Amino acid sequence: MLRTVAFVAHVLSGAVWTGAALFVAYAVLPRATDGTMSRAGFVDAAHRLLMITRWTGVALPVTGAYLVWLLYRPLELLTGTSRGWAVLAMLSLWGVMNGLVELGVLRMRREVDPDVGWGEYMAEGFPVEALDGIGAAPGSARLAAVARPYLLASAGLAVLLLVDAALLAGGIPA
Ligand code: HEM
Repeated sequence: MLRTVAFVAHVLSGAVWTGAALFVAYAVLPRATDGTMSRAGFVDAAHRLLMITRWTGVALPVTGAYLVWLLYRPLELLTGTSRGWAVLAMLSLWGVMNGLVELGVLRMRREVDPDVGWGEYMAEGFPVEALDGIGAAPGSARLAAVARPYLLASAGLAVLLLVDAALLAGGIPA
């Protein structure tokens, strides 16, 4: 029963997170880049992606660690089987993609709020209220330009994660 709950929570979290990252890169970033989208709209979308990253950033490693404990004991199975390597790749891709989303949104926030520290950013993210009292510049195009490499790279890693998950689901042999 717990195993089923862990699989469902894990797959749901992975689907929501990778889907959100891909949607932002495909549908939101281009409209912010060409200035069609308002700055507040873009900041709100980026902040929501960050919040999804943080919530799933708890759910994925917790459920993933449980699945490792369940399916990959002794731990040598992680380094001694192809499925184990796929799980290690999943863990690594998760870590790098998390860092990219965090850094991309931090760079956006520092464009409007250069003095924001790590503590404040970790507590708040980039809520749309952080724009209060800021003038017209920087606009959405400028914010999109600083976030673009991070958001595109995270979308690329999301694709790799989905391929990795599909290989595991498709049953690559041990
Ligand atoms: C902390 C990071 C992660 C760890 C430790 C982890 C670990 C695991 C483990 C141990 C399994 C079971 C593999 C098996 O059935 O042999 C699994 C399955 C799965 N993971 Fe992750 N995972 C992580 C992150 C992610 C992320 C970011 C995604 C996003 C796509 C994801 C999607 C999936 C999916 C869809 C499956 C089901 C594959 C199947 O049918 O077996 N995981 N994960």
